[in-house]
This record gives sequence, structure tokens and C-alpha cells, in this order.
Amino acid sequence: MNESLSHGKVILMGEHAVVYGYGAIAIPLFSHSVTTTVEKSKADFLDCSLYKGKMMNAPTQLNNVCEVITEVKKRLKIDETLKITIDSQIPSGRGMGSSAAVVSSIIKAMYHYKQIFLTQEQLLELVHIGETIAHGNPSGLDGVVVNSKTPVLFKRGKGIVPIQSRLHGYLVIRDTCIVASTKQAVADIAELIKKDDKSRDSLDQLGKLSESSIRLIEEGNMKELGLKMIQAQSLLKLLYVSHPLIDQLVDKALAVGALGAKLTGGGRGGCVIALCQDEIVRDAVIERWNDENLWVLDLNVRRVESRAHANIALVKYWGKEDEEQVIPYNSSLSLTLDKLYTDTIIETSDKDEFVLDGVKQGKSESEKIFRFIDRFRQLSQRKNYIRIASVNNFPTAAGLASSASGFAALATAANRYFNLNLSKKKLSEITRFGSGSATRSLFGGFVIWQKDEIPYAYEFDSADWDIAMIVVIINREKKDVSSKEAMRRTVYTSPYYPAWVENAQIDIENIKKAIKKHDFKVLGEITQSNALRMHASMMAAIPPIIYFQPQTLTVLRFVDELNKRGLECYATMDAGPNVKILTRQSQVRVIVDELASLIDQKGIIICNPGEGATILNES
Ligand code: DP6
Repeated sequence: MNESLSHGKVILMGEHAVVYGYGAIAIPLFSHSVTTTVEKSKADFLDCSLYKGKMMNAPTQLNNVCEVITEVKKRLKIDETLKITIDSQIPSGRGMGSSAAVVSSIIKAMYHYKQIFLTQEQLLELVHIGETIAHGNPSGLDGVVVNSKTPVLFKRGKGIVPIQSRLHGYLVIRDTCIVASTKQAVADIAELIKKDDKSRDSLDQLGKLSESSIRLIEEGNMKELGLKMIQAQSLLKLLYVSHPLIDQLVDKALAVGALGAKLTGGGRGGCVIALCQDEIVRDAVIERWNDENLWVLDLNVRRVESRAHANIALVKYWGKEDEEQVIPYNSSLSLTLDKLYTDTIIETSDKDEFVLDGVKQGKSESEKIFRFIDRFRQLSQRKNYIRIASVNNFPTAAGLASSASGFAALATAANRYFNLNLSKKKLSEITRFGSGSATRSLFGGFVIWQKDEIPYAYEFDSADWDIAMIVVIINREKKDVSSKEAMRRTVYTSPYYPAWVENAQIDIENIKKAIKKHDFKVLGEITQSNALRMHASMMAAIPPIIYFQPQTLTVLRFVDELNKRGLECYATMDAGPNVKILTRQSQVRVIVDELASLIDQKGIIICNPGEGATILNES
């Protein structure tokens, strides 16, 4: 991460109205940033696009920069002389926050150079020094937005509030290259509203439009926001701060499908913005605006991190009635576990890439993942490349439900990244194409994957009672036969398969009743017999599938013995040799102590019921 990065800003709504106490909304311009490097040198030296040479000879336009550097040196007691190299992509004098971003970047780089922690308060105070020199009486808005990860609402005298944006699509920004004085425009409006009630009314409407846009940004309601931008532009025109070129650019953008377009900043020149819902409209606007003096701000989420927990089925899903559509033969029921989880990051990239546990995956693994991702791409209008990085906090593909937590975390991240806003039920309908069991990891507690025309998952019970599961790892290696293949072979070749399905259907009805009654004994008995029947059905397949290892049997017999001695514990197993013991939180300690004679403590994970999949963070 670059310690000195700051970015530009653009005002979306509320210019001019902000002078009269209404809120203005500004968005960070991530596409345009400043980075600064600081190194020891023989003299204080500046290197930037405007000037390269000794700081003492720098031109007056850089007074803000020099003043701030001197102040930071004083505060940090930096005695040595420094070379400060500033690389800024933000055009200056366009209302894009260039001076605040440059100064912020320098301050951050100098604190980093001295390895001293910089608080947000200190940063803003120092930026204010630079901004006072550059702009006279700065509002403080720029200093915050150029360092913010979210859009902000600014109100004079009331400060700044971050807005959680769900906007997506693009904002195209075009410079008219007409230099106009904001100060003059503000003064003219002040005169106008003194004389004319209608103008005062326009100004009030402008302010209200800006404030009602906050909710639309939070909801990601692009269409309504676009309409508000169009209305704002009409009002700005009535206040005489538009310009024939601005009007022309606005009309051109709307003609090719932009949702809204307006001037940004002081007006009478400066920049124009157009809100575009997708890449097609974005490119059309760029073309109509002659692809010159313009910038594109990607409003889409660029990085999402999600977490989903593994789940262990108590009534298993084993076999597909329709392989292509992933329709199971029977409904299944599971318990989500708190200690086993997958964290997945999706981020915008220049190529599709899948990294699992730090290892870049080959063609076949990646293709499987991106076939799944294509479903999300199809539903959204976002077709860009992504990098997926997943980390399991437990062994992958060893019958510990890594594909369940993996695909649930991926679907959750993709739902957000591609801005689909699907409910968890709807998301479960897509998740099944990654892995059937993954549908259940979207939810917490006891979860059912319901067989239906379109199967879906839902939380059946929060499992907020005395339930625990002890995972006993017998082998951490990847299994030889995948569950997909094992399932298929069982369905097609095992004479016991029909009996498995018939019993599983009875099990699911009975286990539901047991859960509702908190009848742990029946819950455990169904769990254990269901797992053993599943393994019996696959052992009878041709060729047989045997996931059991000698230690598996030892643990199974041990659990049985503990049960006979009065402890409440029942075993279950999935497509692998590891055993999971369903028990009571209140009995976990005794059972784990007993297990110590058989299993290395490192191979034991004590789990409680876990939560459903969540977004950990996004930017
Ligand atoms: C034994 O969900 O991994 O864990 O849908 O083919 O990806 P696919 O299968 P998968 O199978 C899980 C099988 C199981 C039982 C269960 O979790 O219900």
C-alpha cells in the first residue's frame, strides 16, 4: 500500500446551494491521484511538474507546498534536508481538489519517512495551512474528500458526513477549458436572489435536490440520481451559472443515454459531469464529447472482501437428479460452523486470475471458478476482469466443506462486486452452480437446502442453544475422488442409492421436528445414521468409494463408546476421512479430554454454530 496516496475530488450535487447552508456532495476521484516520495538530500529540493530545483527558489504558486513542508519539518523535528518528489495526475485549477491532494500526499509521505503515526485530525489541520495559502478561506471539504474512501456530504459550519455509496457505473468528467471565476459566480447569485424571489426559490430547490440525493446514493438508485442531476442543471441555468458549451455537452451526453449530466463546481466554464449506468453509455458519451479533456471515474466497487463459514450436513446432500441444473435428489440440512471459514477478495484487475491459499491456480481450477463468475457478469453489465483471492483457515478439499464456504464466500463477494443486490435466497439459487452444499453456507445456524423446481437455501433455526461440533482431522490431504465424481458414481452404480434417497427424505422431516423440539438425542441419532447410510451407499458403488481410513473407524467406535457411557455425542462424516462429532457445548471439554488419547490436539477444532456469509469490507 502506498503510504502517501491522495486523490482528487468532484462535486456531484449542491454547488452554490452550499453557500446558503445546504449540503453539497463530493465524490473522491480515485482515478486521479498524487503520490509523493521523500528522501534524504544535500539540500531541500522539490521535484514536481511545475518546478524542479531548490525549495528556496520555488515559484510562488508553490508557496502552499513550501509552507506545509516547513511546518511538518518543524513539528517532526526533521533537521536533515530532503528531496521531495511529487507525482500528481490531478489537473490543477479545475475544482478537482488538486492543491489539497498534493499537500495531503506530502504530509503523509513526510510522516511515513519519519515513521510517525499521523492522525486524521493532524492531517486536516496541516492541509488547512496549505489550503489557506492556495484559496484564502477554504471550507475544509477538499482536505477531507481527497483522503476519503467514500463520498461525503458537506455542510457549512456543520462539517462533513461520509456517505455509504452503492452507486455503480461511471461518471465521465469533461473540462470545457473555459476559465471562470467561482468567486464572481457566487457574488452574482447573491445579488440575483436579493432582487428576485424566483431565483431564491431556484436556489432552495437546488439545495433540496442535493440533500435528497444522499438517500439515492446510499441505495444506488442511479436513475433517480440522474434525474436529480438534470433538474439541478436546469436550476443552475436559471441562476445564470451555466454556459452555452456546458449546455451543449449536457445535451450531447443525455442524447446518447447518460442518466444525468450537469456542470460541477462554480460553473460558467470549468467541468461538466455525466452519469452513465454502464460501459456502453460511458463509451458513447466519451465519443460524443470527442474523447478530449476528459476523465472517467469508475463508481463501481473495486475491491470486496467476504467471509463464509463451512457447514456440515446432518442430513446429507448426496446425488443430483439433474446434474446440469444441480437439482439434488433430496433436501439436506446442515449446521454452519464458526471456526472454519473462507475469506475471499474480489478486485478489479487487468486479467482474470484465481489465487487459492496464496497459490495461483491453473487452467482447469480457474475455468471452473470463472464459469461461475460469468453468471454474475451476465446478470450485471460489468464485464471487466477480476482477481479472486481466497484463503481457507482449514485444509482445502479434505472433506471439511471447503467448497461450501469457498463458493458461498465467492457468491457473496460477487453479489456485491457486481452490484446485484440479490437476496440470500436468490443468491442461493445461483450458488448451487458452484457447489450444492455452498448454498447452505450463505446462512447461519441450522440451514436447509430445499429441493424444488429451483432449489434454494434458508435458515431453519438459529441454533442458538446448547449445540457444538468437534472436528477431528484425521488426514489433511486432498481427497482422491471429488464429491462430485463420488456422487455421480453412487447415483449411477450403487444398488443402495434408491434406499438412501428414500431414507434421507424421511430423515429430513424427522430432524426438522427434533430441532424444533430441541430434542438432541433424536437430532444426533438421525445425524449419525444418515452419514453412515451415505457412506454405505457409496461403498456399494462400482468401483467403490471408500473415504474411511483406519483412524476414522477408531474415532467412530470411540464416539459410540462415549455415547454408551452417557455422553451426548454422535458422529458424522462427509466425502473424506475426517470425523465431526455433534455434541453439547457443555460436554465439549470432557469429550476433547477423552479424545486426547487417540488424536493429536492439533487435529481437533472445537466449533460452535456459526453465522451466515458477510461482506467484511469494500472500497
Ligand atoms: C458429502 O456440495 O461438494 O459434503 O454440488 O457437486 O459441488 P457439488 O457437491 P458438494 O457435496 C457435498 C457432499 C457432502 C454432503 C453435504 O454437504 O450435504
